[in-house]
Amino acid sequence: MTLASGVAAGSIAHPLAGYRSEFPIFRDRIYLNTCSLGPLGDRARRKVAEFLDVWQARGAAAWYDVWWEALAELRTRYGGVIQAPADTIALAPSVSVAVATVASALDYRTRPRVVVTSLDFPTVVYQWLARQSLGVELVVVESPDQVTVPVEAIAQAIDERTALVATSHVYFTSGAIQDIAAVADAAHRKGALCLIDAYQSVGQVPVDAPAAGVDFLIAGGLKWLLGGTGIVFCYARSDTAQRLVPTVAGWFGHKDQFAFDPRAIEFHDDARRFELGTPALAAIHTQLGGLEYIEEIGMPAIRRVTAGLVEDLVARAGDQGLRPKVAATPEQRSAIVMIPAADPAAAVRHLAAGAIVADARPGHVRLSPFFYNVQDDHVAALARLAAYRSH
Ligand SMILES: Cc1ncc(COP(=O)(O)O)c(C=O)c1O
Repeated sequence: MTLASGVAAGSIAHPLAGYRSEFPIFRDRIYLNTCSLGPLGDRARRKVAEFLDVWQARGAAAWYDVWWEALAELRTRYGGVIQAPADTIALAPSVSVAVATVASALDYRTRPRVVVTSLDFPTVVYQWLARQSLGVELVVVESPDQVTVPVEAIAQAIDERTALVATSHVYFTSGAIQDIAAVADAAHRKGALCLIDAYQSVGQVPVDAPAAGVDFLIAGGLKWLLGGTGIVFCYARSDTAQRLVPTVAGWFGHKDQFAFDPRAIEFHDDARRFELGTPALAAIHTQLGGLEYIEEIGMPAIRRVTAGLVEDLVARAGDQGLRPKVAATPEQRSAIVMIPAADPAAAVRHLAAGAIVADARPGHVRLSPFFYNVQDDHVAALARLAAYRSH
């Protein structure tokens, strides 16, 4: 028997499972792929529909009140999820653009080095590979186990020639949580800055960017903040932002944007100096709707429920004789569970044929439960993977 919410009767195992009814994809699929793309919730869809109505009815006139306010509201609410004030938040269309804008502001003359790890998402690393012809040197800290990177190894790689340490809060192929306060401290001890790609953490793991002491922290809508494509934010610590001047620019970064003076550029005093051009309003509104779930539930409850689901999934996989690639302790784990698979792409296709949405990464099927998932989703996914292995 299936309830209206799409949850099988008797399987409402946690207090957030009722939210499942607001994510229509569960009506005919089991969704276990939030770490690739968060599913579209009713509230996000409603916000976009409202935006389209306003656009249709008012056109550009809406810029001067509702849309301008929507941008300010999003900066404030993004700040809220990482405990940071609105003036430390810049909006951007992708992590790549946000990192590239920060990269443009660094002075590599006496500090040509940038330290990354072998587990970081490539787009973060490419920023500095692309600057090698300008003298930028990339230092890649290897992961000994392909799950995490010891902070001590990162610290050892930083020296007086290091401009920046750029790494992840949650590693995208293992779900391991990095100690970003320790990374920031190691960077600052050598006079370097610290940038954190938190795309895989903000929304599923509590984050306090100011308390962690990082200089930059980037996350956004695509995954755990349920806001879809095309909208991210870049937190920039106030003192760091004020002393860095980007060498790429757009009119949204200009302090007096509507002066339209082509002869002079004066950047915003705050994080908005890292903004470039007109934001995608549909994406802004999807994110405002998606954030409602995160804010309403709150990070402690989200973390509690997803951590429980992760341990359930790891234990059930273990019962099948599988050894998921996850961090050693539950505290270091997040909602990305890598199930070993001989042919991950084929296994994911087999799951898809059974209406289960997952993702493949080298050597593994990647499953990522969130607050709308239930234990029965794990049972179904693991059973189908077992059936696939056995023929
Ligand atoms: C950790 C991480 N960083 C960055 C990205 C993507 O960056 P961009 O917004 O440039 O596509 C992803 C995945 O899409 C990711 O998992």
